[in-house]
Amino acid sequence: MRTIHIAASRSYDVLLDEGLLSRSGRLASHVLPPSRVMVISDSTVSALFGGIVLDSFARAGYKAFSFTFEPGERSKTLATLGGALNALARAGFTRGDCVAALGGGVVGDLAGFAAAVYARGIPFLQLPTTLLAAVDSSIGGKTAVNLDAGKNLAGAFWQPSLTLCDTAVMRGLPAHLQAEGAAEMIKHATLADPELFARLANPDPAVRSDNLEDTLERNLMIKRALVQADERDKGVRQKLNLGHTIGHAVETVSGHGYTHGQAVAIGLYRIARAAERMGYAGSGLSDSIRQVLTLTGLPYNCPLTADDLLTAARLDKKRDGSATTLVVPRGIGRCDLVKVDDEGLAEWFRAGSPD
Ligand code: GLY
Repeated sequence: MRTIHIAASRSYDVLLDEGLLSRSGRLASHVLPPSRVMVISDSTVSALFGGIVLDSFARAGYKAFSFTFEPGERSKTLATLGGALNALARAGFTRGDCVAALGGGVVGDLAGFAAAVYARGIPFLQLPTTLLAAVDSSIGGKTAVNLDAGKNLAGAFWQPSLTLCDTAVMRGLPAHLQAEGAAEMIKHATLADPELFARLANPDPAVRSDNLEDTLERNLMIKRALVQADERDKGVRQKLNLGHTIGHAVETVSGHGYTHGQAVAIGLYRIARAAERMGYAGSGLSDSIRQVLTLTGLPYNCPLTADDLLTAARLDKKRDGSATTLVVPRGIGRCDLVKVDDEGLAEWFRAGSPD
């Protein structure tokens, strides 16, 4: 078992090992004395792993309850949040009790937000069941639901008390969920780890999938460094948005015709291309990124033009007044934050667009 310790406003461990879901209750009891636990999940994940987790908590002495909702981004609403909060209240949860988020990014964000606001905050555990959640959303304490006006517009920083990444679950994921997680891993590698990038870009699929625990650990170390330096996302943590300014616009303008991972992949390629054209990166960067994305089964481009995407990007919640902070790669393993006004944003988007 590997342990990565995160030192933030609440410090906690991320554990990586095979079979952690069936040990979740006992592992949780080391940090949260047995109490009531609400296992929040979606119906797909609950059917696969809900029984194992509820049973594990019950065996460890917890009184275990479950709240389940329909899978997908469309459930990440105030209405579902209200359902979860009412379920906690009906079951008599108090500040001594806890929530366990069992699922991917949608479940983790929603369950984490429910824990952040119920009774002004109760502890929660992250039990990620997708690669994307394991390497990104289950650590760092960002929790949220979507509003009609945009993604993640209502949320809170609320760190979990423990994150358990069951590597057996990660290995068993279907190809499309592997690709979703790979998009964030390629992002991390481009940001900070040329060796990880070389591993992910290896043409031999066995090399790419070997040493899963090591690959996950490297990703978590990259995210940990940025979260520890800037938990509230005011500065360097924003580097984790590499590929996301264009990516979020691709998701919005296509009406979610591209998944988050696909949109980030397109955003990553386009910002690399723009960095080359604007003189920030040497030639070859976008080719390297295109190759690794293609190998992973992710797109690197789409028919949407810069002008198609600019309106959506100008509405992005990450803007500060009329300024947008772009994450600009300078080479594999190195990137800078570059603040631009609307005119600058248009210039960057156009420089990254297909000819
Ligand atoms: N997913 C980006 C962050 O946690 O800051």
